[in-house]
Amino acid sequence: MDTNKRPDTMERITTKELADKFIAEQIALVKEQVGDKKVLLALSGGVDSSVVAALLIKAIGKQLVCVHVNHGLMRKGESEAVIEVFRNQMDANLIYVDATDRFLDLLEGVSDPEAKRKIIGGEFIKVFDEEAAKLQGIEFLAQGTIYPDILESIKAKESGKPVKSHHNVGGLPDDMKMELVEPVKLLFKDEVRVVGEALGLPYEMVYRQPFPGPGLGVRCLGAITRDRLHALREADAILREEFDNCGLAKTVWQYFISVPDMKSVGVRDEKRYEGWPAIIRAVNTTDAMTATIEEIPYEVLHKITSRITSEVEGINRVLFDLTPKPTGTIEWE
Ligand code: XMP
Repeated sequence: MDTNKRPDTMERITTKELADKFIAEQIALVKEQVGDKKVLLALSGGVDSSVVAALLIKAIGKQLVCVHVNHGLMRKGESEAVIEVFRNQMDANLIYVDATDRFLDLLEGVSDPEAKRKIIGGEFIKVFDEEAAKLQGIEFLAQGTIYPDILESIKAKESGKPVKSHHNVGGLPDDMKMELVEPVKLLFKDEVRVVGEALGLPYEMVYRQPFPGPGLGVRCLGAITRDRLHALREADAILREEFDNCGLAKTVWQYFISVPDMKSVGVRDEKRYEGWPAIIRAVNTTDAMTATIEEIPYEVLHKITSRITSEVEGINRVLFDLTPKPTGTIEWE
């Protein structure tokens, strides 16, 4: 039997009852697969890895070792939420690595977007591998692979095009022979979310909008500086808070701020104030290949503008990006 093929008879998981049934089945399967051995998981805080973590904690408790690498490019409060939910509430075996300085030092002066991506991706694997190497007796690697990842790989193989290097394609050293544990690999995203809710994960984690692996690194445009990154993180937190308040967080697929490496002249407290612009992007899409612009009520835009320009040090203007994809990509870099 091809374990990577979703059986035609498999019911779609749309309710808590169906999710509970799936969870009970997976707990039994994972226990059988793993026995009393240890399992390693890179826990990013994204939906898929969070659901896998919560499921495995239920199945094997402290035999699961989660590693959360904070690359310093997370959104405001995200690493803290991972620690709060998994270590404090679920009592997980969680290794938290604050590698902020390591990443930001490496990225200093690097302005090319692809070079930034390469550095962030490469360093991420390095940090994770270093942590894994410190651990003894790990025989399994858990991954948040979901069914679209499998379908994409099959499609790529059939078309002869190279497989897109999505976040689940491991970068583990060859000498680390670990068997995979992938409990949600036959589920679609909406089903993963239903399972996440049934496992008691917080709403914000389960319905988290897509967030690129390089994180704020590709939104702090050009060469990243700590002060501009800080301004971006604060402005983005305000945007998210206001979208939550007015309900847009539930209807807009992806929304975020980018801050370019340029300043304009402005005025604050009756004095000349040179600052960066914060650029709002809010898009809807089904597959991220094309995207449309979400209509945001002017009063919401005014409120966000007023809050960002008065609360965030270094920002003196707020712009709204009206460009669909194409011609603009969703991210600016
Ligand atoms: P673009 O900018 O290509 O983005 O229109 C399409 C979707 O992909 C996300 N994105 C990334 N995700 N690593 C990721 O994991 C990346 O380097 C990356 N670049 C873009 C983007 O946020 C959007 O959802």
